[in-house]
Amino acid sequence: MDELKFNKIFAGVLLAALLMMAGVKLGEVLVPSHHGHGHDEAKGHAYPIEVTEVASTAAAAAPAGPEPILALLAEADVAAGMKLAKKCTACHVFDEGGANKVGPALYNIVNADKGAVAGFGYSTALAEFGGGWDYDALNQFLYKPKAYISGTKMNFAGLKKPQDRANMIAYLRSLSGAPAALPTDAEIASEAQ
Ligand code: HEC
Repeated sequence: MDELKFNKIFAGVLLAALLMMAGVKLGEVLVPSHHGHGHDEAKGHAYPIEVTEVASTAAAAAPAGPEPILALLAEADVAAGMKLAKKCTACHVFDEGGANKVGPALYNIVNADKGAVAGFGYSTALAEFGGGWDYDALNQFLYKPKAYISGTKMNFAGLKKPQDRANMIAYLRSLSGAPAALPTDAEIASEAQ
């Protein structure tokens, strides 16, 4: 027997063996081992797919976080911010000398110390948080209060649109005898993205 012929026969036997193995596998799929339970196997196959989907959904739902707003402040719409403040007036007064309600009075709040309005009973979380209400802190807090200060008693979902937060903060800035300086170009450039 010459070598070429031997190779052909060998290849043929190998192919036959492969086809037989494939046939057995195919048979397992096509003919379920239990009568009439074909769809149970389908469920079994679906499971790993479900796991993958859950994983990718979790990744997609990762918080986007508050987008930067410093660059928007100079051109922000104070009147639009005043309209947005209707979302706050159930709990806050914005007028100079206004009284505390469910939340503290908010006149002159930009750059004020956190938790420092006289006569208001703050949560421990806010009272002990520290720092002042600079533009960045307001951006974070107004995006999602309970994410920025876990344990705050401000029950407000947050302003999700960057332009809304910029307009709101521009309005808060206007509520002062001496409005805080607008952010510098350097501050805008170094704002956390
Ligand atoms: C459901 C009531 C409620 C609404 C609505 C609400 N707040 Fe508040 N806010 C509070 C309470 C209560 C606190 C005090 C939170 C604490 O002590 O943890 C607070 C605290 C604050 C503070 C911190 C003040 C300080 O002295 O440290 C700011 C700033 C603020 N709110 C802004 C706003 C703005 C702007 C809106 C509207 C976009 C708003 N809040 C909507 C109840 C509310």
